[in-house]
Amino acid sequence: MELYLDSANLEEIRHVASLGIISGVTTNPSLLAKEDPKVDVRKRILEIHQLVGGHLSVEVISLDADGMLREADEILTWFPEATIKIPMIPEGLKAVAKLADQDVETNVTLIFSATQALAANNAGATYVSVFVGRLDDIGYDGMEVIRDVRDIWDTQGLSSLILAASIRHPMHILESAKAGADIATCPYKPLLQSLQHPLTDKGVAAFVADHKKMQDEIAKLKASTN
Ligand code: G3P
Repeated sequence: MELYLDSANLEEIRHVASLGIISGVTTNPSLLAKEDPKVDVRKRILEIHQLVGGHLSVEVISLDADGMLREADEILTWFPEATIKIPMIPEGLKAVAKLADQDVETNVTLIFSATQALAANNAGATYVSVFVGRLDDIGYDGMEVIRDVRDIWDTQGLSSLILAASIRHPMHILESAKAGADIATCPYKPLLQSLQHPLTDKGVAAFVADHKKMQDEIAKLKASTN
């Protein structure tokens, strides 16, 4: 399962990109506004694109297909490899179908059920983003949707890539991988948490201490023979 970073924060993106563990970044209007409500979106998106050369989802904000397509055209002038992120509404599906005809990659976002994912796939979405955490927040099992989508995809031979989004903690990353998601897009904190283990830290500290002990013994020995 590939990992993307779900962020518009340059420091976070720079750090995680340097670790070599992500192959893309997803953004949305809320993440951009969180960084700076006056942010120059084009400039920020191009900065992110420079930091992570792989997948980059950029979301449209229009609610009608024509507006979405105009925005997509504009985004594609910024960089032609952009993936256009489109909300799971009927007008969005219309725009996805048009973009698929032009071989433009799309990421259908705000998916909360397997039937929505199926419709997005049939419209020609490259990615279907299932919001796991937001379903958990309202008392549903978000991961069940990923499992259902994987099952349907395998039974029917469907091709959209299954993207687990709205990740809240490392268990969501683990469960997404077990459920067969193709990608999990993770905020900075759970992604960093998923790299840590107390026994790793304890082990590193012990190796460093033992190495120092050895060096001290050698230094002592050298001092006594001089
Ligand atoms: O990329 C969008 C999605 O991951 C949003 O997550 O935390 O706002 O539910 P969240």
